[in-house]
Amino acid sequence: MHSMTASFLRSAHGGESQAHMRYMAWADVAEKEGFCKVGKLFRAVAFAEQVHATNHFVVLKDVKGAFLVDAMAGFGIGRTQENLASALEGETFEINEMYPAYLSTAQAQGEKSAERSIHWALETEKEHAKLFERAGQAVAKGQDLDIKSLYVCKVCGYTHEGDAPDKCPLCGAPKAKIETFGC
Ligand code: FE2
Ligand code: FE2
Ligand code: FE2
Repeated sequence: MHSMTASFLRSAHGGESQAHMRYMAWADVAEKEGFCKVGKLFRAVAFAEQVHATNHFVVLKDVKGAFLVDAMAGFGIGRTQENLASALEGETFEINEMYPAYLSTAQAQGEKSAERSIHWALETEKEHAKLFERAGQAVAKGQDLDIKSLYVCKVCGYTHEGDAPDKCPLCGAPKAKIETFGC
């Protein structure tokens, strides 16, 4: 694998891994504050980030060794409103800056597997940003997120409101590969 694509994938793996843990911690805070559905949202999105981190890791399977990885990850635990704002900021950075730059590099270097893994993450983060924005607006009014269920594709991480569809809209995986998070 070209070294620039590999380096970007390692960073993306680091960022996704840390986002997974951060969202699990913020889910606990949301649940303690009584925002049960925001907690579910954080857990569903944390699962999607785990799928992204795993996909990048699998694409990197032949690049072995220890590396210093810049995950560009945010730190801190605030109240839920603050945590949602930080989550939106992180997703927006991935959508506008990080993944488009990584995607063009993978394309320019002809790294097809990296391109697919990055494309799936980029498209999923757009859904995450919309959901976090909506949750932030609800919590600002002292309300919980108005949502019944969420689903996450175990293959590409695609996340959306509602119950599992017959086929993942992003990667085409069948219903059996889609997990529903009830609220
Ligand atoms: Fe992600
Ligand atoms: Fe995300
Ligand atoms: Fe999918």
